[in-house]
Amino acid sequence: MPRTTPRTYALVPAAGQGTRMGESTPKQYLAVAGLPMLRHSLAALAAVARVDRVIAILAPDDAHWNAHDWSALAGRVEALRAGGQTRARSVANAIERLAGEAAPDDWILVHDAARPCLTPAMVERLLDEAGDDPVGGLLAMPVADTLKREGEPARVGATVPREGLWRAQTPQLFRYALLRRALAEAPAATDESQAVESLGHRPRLVQGDNANFKVTFPEDLALAETILTHRRKHA
Ligand code: CTP
Ligand code: MG
Repeated sequence: MPRTTPRTYALVPAAGQGTRMGESTPKQYLAVAGLPMLRHSLAALAAVARVDRVIAILAPDDAHWNAHDWSALAGRVEALRAGGQTRARSVANAIERLAGEAAPDDWILVHDAARPCLTPAMVERLLDEAGDDPVGGLLAMPVADTLKREGEPARVGATVPREGLWRAQTPQLFRYALLRRALAEAPAATDESQAVESLGHRPRLVQGDNANFKVTFPEDLALAETILTHRRKHA
């Protein structure tokens, strides 16, 4: 019998190399507040009751996952060795692997392993505000700074109006069948929203959080450490 209530799968791409971080260990396994970065990202999703399954997408030859203890996540997370050459490929591979079990209108939440300061409340907000949308949506931040476009190298060419500009974050929430088609047709998209937009849809923008930044460069690690340590002290 077909299911009537859609399920929600959280996919966490964690198959990158972290080249801009400049460490030999991929950044998702670097310690932040005493735990691998990936652990924080997975824990935030696993703490949301409406999320049925949490799946970390690992590189096929990942040598780090098995070296860590994931038991604190109480069987709430699974590892899928489906990573590809790009983030979009990693997500698309995982989507294909779910083909036998996911229903067309099941929800897929995609969240970067490299955003460890996500909280369950941020996930709940996205599910509340985009979970009844026909297309889906994403967390994003309205741009607050004045924007400059470079003209000659390191010289301002123009000031770009910031009205209506948002910075995309993750999680991003889309229906299984729509996301599968979008990623198949737009393999170069840098996020799920862009792939879905390319099919002519208009995903919903949901207020994100500055703390939900992506750890990219070495100095970002200290900020994530400060945020997560502060939260733990005040929990
Ligand atoms: N990612 C992935 N598969 C890839 C590339 C990236 O699953 N082939 C994941 C990363 O592990 C990360 C997220 O996508 O959690 C966002 O990508 P990014 O911040 O660019 O991470 P990396 O690609 O690892 O870093 P860099 O671009 O500096 O190499
Ligand atoms: Mg990358």
